[in-house]
Amino acid sequence: MSDFVTVVEVGPRDGLQNEPQTLSTTLRVELIDRLALCGLPVIEAGSFVSPQWVPQMAGTDKVLAAIAARPGTRYPVLVPNLQGFELALAAGANEIALFAAASERFSQQNTNCSIAESISRLVPVAERAKAAGLRVRAYISCVLGCPYEGNIGAGAVTAVCEQLLQMGCDEISLGDTIGTGTPADASTLVRAVATIVPITQLAVHFHDTYGQALANILACLDAGIRTVDASVAGLGGCPYAKGASGNVATEDVAYMLDGLGLDTGIDLQALARTGDWISKQLQRPNNSKTGVALCHIND
Ligand code: HMG
Ligand code: MG
Repeated sequence: MSDFVTVVEVGPRDGLQNEPQTLSTTLRVELIDRLALCGLPVIEAGSFVSPQWVPQMAGTDKVLAAIAARPGTRYPVLVPNLQGFELALAAGANEIALFAAASERFSQQNTNCSIAESISRLVPVAERAKAAGLRVRAYISCVLGCPYEGNIGAGAVTAVCEQLLQMGCDEISLGDTIGTGTPADASTLVRAVATIVPITQLAVHFHDTYGQALANILACLDAGIRTVDASVAGLGGCPYAKGASGNVATEDVAYMLDGLGLDTGIDLQALARTGDWISKQLQRPNNSKTGVALCHIND
């Protein structure tokens, strides 16, 4: 099994979309460029969703136009529908990320439609993206729990995976949106999904609400996962779960992977400085334990 783990940095999208303060284009661009210089191979740069729903992500076209795109670094953007796809294409995106949910009620809250309707909305988007030569990533939310429905069975997740695979998605990221999952369940789910999706096309996406994210990632690595989503400084939160924290912090993931002897290509010191810098810009605490240890151990 490969000893390289691809860390997908989602802070500039999943992180910032859940921060109360909207960052300027200049700061969003600086964050992305700094993350690229830290060696992150994939940085989700923003989203083309309704600005009424997510004002923090308005102006992602300007962000894409201004970043110093590094050769070899991927910059996917999240799109919910054809309208978003056309905007992303016009802005020069070469990778998109789609999203669906494993829970009906969450699907209604997040996308204003049922799971089946959301899949039908995504089919033409994936078709257009593939025809235009774009890579397509897809997220499934609430794979280990839903704020409205509670437990979610593996069958609901695999059913959505099958449809995403059928529409040609290159990668599927399994999202523990509210961070309620625990390692045994995470590992069981990955093993179940891997019977229909090649493990090399799977990623995991943990939020750290219950402090389980690193343990869950470790369990998923044992199950063969080699792509992990994370957010610098643990940026973000979840609007659907009171008190929920953001994605697992990239610095913490990078530190653990290094300790496991797994390569990521990440410069951890530079990443820690970037996490500390963006936390200051947002006037929020740095939610990475590794980041705080590396930057403030002598304060
Ligand atoms: P809707 O209201 O059902 O859509 O929203 P609509 O088609 O009726 O359009 C309503 C208005 O939105 C119209 O404007 C459209 O033009 C506009 P109006 O005519 O009223 O002026 N609109 C758009 N504007 C810009 N870009 C677009 C777009 N689409 C419609 N793409 C929709 C449906 C899905 C668009 C809406 O619900 C939406 O944008 N939701 C955003 C949801 C979102 O971004 N959620 C966060 C991402 S998912 C996530 O974070 C989870 C993840 O991290 C994994 C995990 O942790 O689980 C990925
Ligand atoms: Mg998320």
